[in-house]
Amino acid sequence: MASTMSETPMKSQSDYDREKELKSFDDTRAGVKGLVDDGVAKIPRIFIREPDEFDKNSNSNHNTHFAIPVIDLEGVNSNSSRRSDIVERVGLASKTWGFFQVVNHGIPVDVLQEMIEGVRRFNEQPKEVKSEYYTRDSTKKVVYNSNFDLFRAPSANWRDTIFCSMAPEPPNPEDLPEMCRDILMEFSEHVRKLGLRLFELLSEALGLKPNHLEDLGCTEGLNILCHYYPYCPEPELTLGVSKHSDSSFLTVLLQDHIGGLQVLHQNQWVNVPPVPGALVINIGDLLQFVSNDIFKSSEHRVIANNEGPRISVACFITTHLRENARLHGPIKELLSEENPPIYREITVKEYTTHYNEKGLDGNSALLKFKLLKFKL
Ligand code: OGA
Ligand code: NI
Repeated sequence: MASTMSETPMKSQSDYDREKELKSFDDTRAGVKGLVDDGVAKIPRIFIREPDEFDKNSNSNHNTHFAIPVIDLEGVNSNSSRRSDIVERVGLASKTWGFFQVVNHGIPVDVLQEMIEGVRRFNEQPKEVKSEYYTRDSTKKVVYNSNFDLFRAPSANWRDTIFCSMAPEPPNPEDLPEMCRDILMEFSEHVRKLGLRLFELLSEALGLKPNHLEDLGCTEGLNILCHYYPYCPEPELTLGVSKHSDSSFLTVLLQDHIGGLQVLHQNQWVNVPPVPGALVINIGDLLQFVSNDIFKSSEHRVIANNEGPRISVACFITTHLRENARLHGPIKELLSEENPPIYREITVKEYTTHYNEKGLDGNSALLKFKLLKFKL
């Protein structure tokens, strides 16, 4: 076995039965939290990641001159000069970063805290109770599992997720896990309202009527992904979430105080620091798509941590895999001879199906829908 001895552990993906190890992990129905509860001191090979070309810049101490914009929404509906200032900031952040944080967004702090606590309670209850929700059937309205793309991605991520489809058809409250049922319903109502306001600002930032994006159906769906990133004994060998952009139109993200979210900006990983009471907003692939690349769906990732658990709640504004025949394409008002459409028309379901089948492999799912002359 001398030849395998000389290989580095990261390159030795072929010398073990990966499929079998993925399956036996999945069969526990206990997620990454189950491994940690069992006291693993070394992370299983299925979680070991390939280093990224941008990793040399990943140390946040080297990029402190970049900071994600924080936008104060105070006065957005009562003061017209404030509003135009906010629209300008939202537009600039969406074009350059694809990421910003908002404060004074109207969702009470105690609702945010209770949402985080609800996710903690769900994940920290006995595994027999949680495992009843464990499934890979993505047509279900409530899906708990670890790594939606477990069997497709190059490496597994150190996180567990409970996915809840909240709109356009709200779930039966009884279908939601008891430990976070009430707060999910309440939080979701707040996020829907905030989402509508953000889409007005985004429409205006594109020079369109405030209700333009809403009229296109961009605001109809809401899917809430509650992530739990357990303590990791070897955080440098894996990731909480691999590099990806979101499949949504827009994502509203609530994160706790631990940190670890990073956005790729000018080829550097820049931290998205936890700001108490703030929400992180990011442009998703579908909004990059309808804006014909005016807005940017930026790549981001989450570092694994040894302080956690870390908890975050990602609200994906999209109808996701729901049956919906409506075709979307680059918005006509944004096109001209100099700005021809970059993408062909698609349905949200077609896009999301491709995104999910591909998994988080480091490449954008948008490429498949580019018109031929833009493929290079
Ligand atoms: C996501 C995501 C970031 C986080 O759910 O797509 O990027 O901080 N989450 O959990
Ligand atoms: Ni994301």
